Amino acid sequence: MSTIKMWFATKDMVISLAILLLVSVTPCSSAFWKTQNKVKTAVLLSPKFELRPGSVSNKYYYDIEFPRGHVALKGFTAEVVDEVGNPVPLHETYLHHWALFRYYESKSKLATHTNYDPHRVLHVSDSIQNSSLVLVRNSGICQGNSLGQYYGIGSETRGTNTDIPDPFGLEIGNPAEVPEGYEEKWLLNIHAIDTRGVEDKLGCTECRCDLYNVTVNEYGIPLSPSYEGGLNCCYDQTQCRLKKGFQGPKRTLYLRYTAKWIDWDEYVVPVKIYILDVTDTLKISDTSSSIDSSNHDCRVEYKVDPCNSESKKDNECVDVKRTRLPMQKGGYVVYGVAHQHSGGIGATLYGQDGRVICTSMPNYGSGDEAGNEAGYVVGMTTCYSKPGSVKIFDGETLTLESNYSSTTRSRTGVMGIFYLLVAEQLPHEHYLTHSSPFFRNINNVFN
Ligand SMILES: *[C@@H]1O[C@H](CO)[C@@H](O)[C@H](O)[C@H]1NC(C)=O
Ligand SMILES: *[C@@H]1O[C@H](CO)[C@@H](O)[C@H](O)[C@H]1NC(C)=O
Ligand SMILES: *[C@@H]1O[C@H](CO)[C@@H](O)[C@H](O)[C@H]1NC(C)=O
Repeated sequence: MSTIKMWFATKDMVISLAILLLVSVTPCSSAFWKTQNKVKTAVLLSPKFELRPGSVSNKYYYDIEFPRGHVALKGFTAEVVDEVGNPVPLHETYLHHWALFRYYESKSKLATHTNYDPHRVLHVSDSIQNSSLVLVRNSGICQGNSLGQYYGIGSETRGTNTDIPDPFGLEIGNPAEVPEGYEEKWLLNIHAIDTRGVEDKLGCTECRCDLYNVTVNEYGIPLSPSYEGGLNCCYDQTQCRLKKGFQGPKRTLYLRYTAKWIDWDEYVVPVKIYILDVTDTLKISDTSSSIDSSNHDCRVEYKVDPCNSESKKDNECVDVKRTRLPMQKGGYVVYGVAHQHSGGIGATLYGQDGRVICTSMPNYGSGDEAGNEAGYVVGMTTCYSKPGSVKIFDGETLTLESNYSSTTRSRTGVMGIFYLLVAEQLPHEHYLTHSSPFFRNINNVFN
C-alpha cells in the first residue's frame, strides 16, 4: 500500500484528476527483476470527441497524460469507450486508428496547438533551433511525417498484445536526451468513423470517396479521379452517406488508453522501434552500393484491385503486395506484429535468405459485442521470439509481404504495416557493457 501512496504523491508522475486512473503494482515475472522493478499501470481517458451517425473525427491531442520521468515503457493499449466507460463496438464506431507520438516542446516558445494536424505543426528536423515542437521519430525506416509514431493500431486494438517481454523496454523520458530548453511530451491521434445508420459500413470504413461525397482533400486540393478511397476522403468532419431518413443521437466518446512501464535502470535492455510499410517505394540504386535512405516514400495506404474473372474461376483471388527494404542497422527481434484492414489474410517479413522473421495474421470477430465484431479485424497475432533466436543483420535487405483477399470490388485504403521491436544487444551483452560494479565483478569471477 505504501508504494501506491508514494507513487501518487510523486509529482513527476501522472496524476489524473477528472480522469479515471487506476494503478496496479505487480511484480515482474522474472525473479531477477523482483527486487529491482515493478510494473506500473495507468488507465487514462483521452479528451472527449463527438460523433453523429456517419461522421468522422480525426483529432490530434497534444500533451496527453502520460508516465513522466525516466522510465521504460512495457506496453500500451487503447479502445473506444462511451461516456459511462462501456466499450463501443466497431460496427457503431469504427476505430480507423490511434497513434501515439513522442515530441519535444520548447519551454520558452509558446505554441498554440490544439487539434492541429502534425503535418503542419510538428517539425521533423535535426536542427530544432527554430521549432517550438519537434517530433521524435521512431528508429525507422519511413521518413518525414510518415509513420513516426511510437505505438499505433486500429480496429484490432482490443485483441492485440503489445507487452514488451522482460528484460526489454522502450526507454523514454531520459533527461539527457531532451534538448536544452525543451520538454518531452506525447501526442495522441485518434481517427474514428461512426457507422450507425450508414448505407455501406465497409465502404465507410474503407473511406470510399463517393460515399463521403468528397472530391478535394483536407487542404482543399482536388483529388485525382482515379483516387477511389483512403484517408484523403475521410478526414475530420467529413460525413459518410446515411440510409435515407436515418436519425440517431450525437455521441460523446473517449479513447481509454493503458500505459505500462517500469522505472528505468541498467537492467532494462533497450529496444528500438522500426515501422515498415509495404507501400514504401524505396528506390535501390544499382549504380551505388550506398543506400540513399532519403528515398523512402511510405504512402501508408494502398488499393487492392478487384479480382479478374479468370483468377476467380481458379479460386486464386489473393492480392500479394511486396516490397524490399534494406536495414542499415539490424539487431535481435524481440516483438513483431502487422497491421492490416478488413480483407487482410496475413503479412510476413522475410530475411534476405528467405527465412521468416515474423508472420502476423488477422483474427476476425464472429459476434456482435465489442472485441468480437463479425467481419472486422479484432486482433493480430504477434511474434515473441526467444531472445537471440531471430536476428536481422546490419545491411540486410528484408522483404515485406502483405496479402489481401480480393473480391469483385476494389478495397481502398488498406494497409500492410509491420511493427518491430529490435534489441541491438542481448541481455548478457547489455549487462557487460552497461553494468554496475556488481555485474562487472561477476564477470571477473567467471573470467
Ligand atoms: C532561425 O530563424 C532565424 C530568424 O527567423 C533565421 O535567421 C535563422 O537562420 C533560423 N535558423 C535555422 C537553423 O533555421
Ligand atoms: C455532394 O457535394 C456536392 C458539391 O460539394 C453538392 O452539391 C451535393 O449536394 C453533395 N451531395 C450530397 C448527396 O450531399
Ligand atoms: C501470401 O501469399 C503468398 C503467395 O501466395 C504465400 O506464399 C504466403 O505464404 C502468403 N502469406 C501469408 C501470411 O499468408
